[in-house]
Amino acid sequence: MSRILSGIRPSGELHLGNYLGAIKQWIDLQHDHETYFMVADLHAITTSFDPKTLPDDIQNVILDYLAAGLDPETATLFVQSQNPVHSELMWLLNTITPVGELQRMVQFKEKSAANKESNNAGILNYPILMAADILAYKAEKVPVGDDQGQHVELARDLAKKFNRLFGQTFPEPQAIHGLGRRIMDLTNPEQKMSKSMAGGIGLNDSEEEINKKLQKAVTGAEPGMIRQAKNMAEAAEKGAHMEWARDANLQKQAHGVRNLFTILFALGEKPEIEKWKMAAEEGKLQFSEFKPALAKIIADHFAPFREKRAKFLKKPKVVAEIIADGNKKARHEAEKTLAEAQQKMGLR
Ligand code: TRP
Repeated sequence: MSRILSGIRPSGELHLGNYLGAIKQWIDLQHDHETYFMVADLHAITTSFDPKTLPDDIQNVILDYLAAGLDPETATLFVQSQNPVHSELMWLLNTITPVGELQRMVQFKEKSAANKESNNAGILNYPILMAADILAYKAEKVPVGDDQGQHVELARDLAKKFNRLFGQTFPEPQAIHGLGRRIMDLTNPEQKMSKSMAGGIGLNDSEEEINKKLQKAVTGAEPGMIRQAKNMAEAAEKGAHMEWARDANLQKQAHGVRNLFTILFALGEKPEIEKWKMAAEEGKLQFSEFKPALAKIIADHFAPFREKRAKFLKKPKVVAEIIADGNKKARHEAEKTLAEAQQKMGLR
């Protein structure tokens, strides 16, 4: 059984983009892989955060994992910072990481440009910690969004380099993309959905809240654009890539419409999907009808999630035990790897 590791940064409530882009796939993967899913809190502190709310943010990610259907009997759920091995292994990997590689990372360039004054070494070294996360468990597959592909590539390079320099130790991890859907921000559909923006749908949101947010979602009335956006979302479902054939000023609207169709395809039942597809096909799609219908589809889909989350929320002891068990198991596995790496490097 091959090993899988992934994680999400605890930066507020999880949203629809996290679910459709990551957690939904993890739930499928947990059955036939040995899976480790963590809360990447050490990564979260590289950008602005509030120490007062961080403990709740961490707890909330675990609650979301459980409510979404990650099964602690099968998957190891844990908190990154509670396992010191990640930081220790990171140091070892630091010594074989070329600085130039780190400076080349797209995410580093974006984040350091965005935080000119408060730039910190953590943003630069972020991918080394991520490599340590992955290699500590000898994970072979890493389900991540496209934006993290370059980081997994670095983890792979570091595994190869370590093996070459010190002897075979780590399997070469590989990103698995494309399983997840890329969900965009509703009001800014050229950017990935994030909870910090107004256009993010929380998994815990009520139908009313979702509807309110969908009302503000960027769309457009032009039937040709709507049809094309629908086709685009449909092609993506089949793993195909399509180029937009239209002028640039419609792009934002088209991305917005495509995004709504992507959500529909992910969460709707067949008859609903057919109904709205047909409407788009025939140039009859009315957003005044489509948006509330989609709000209901989303809210209904997450009704069991909301219920389960509320139940776990009432059992903090059970949740604490799940986290403690996961932390213990993760640490045990990672310690074995660290000892091996230290031995190979002549450190023990
Ligand atoms: N950097 C990842 C993100 O922002 C989160 C993450 C941290 C992660 N460590 C990881 C993902 C290890 C996969 C494997 O999405």
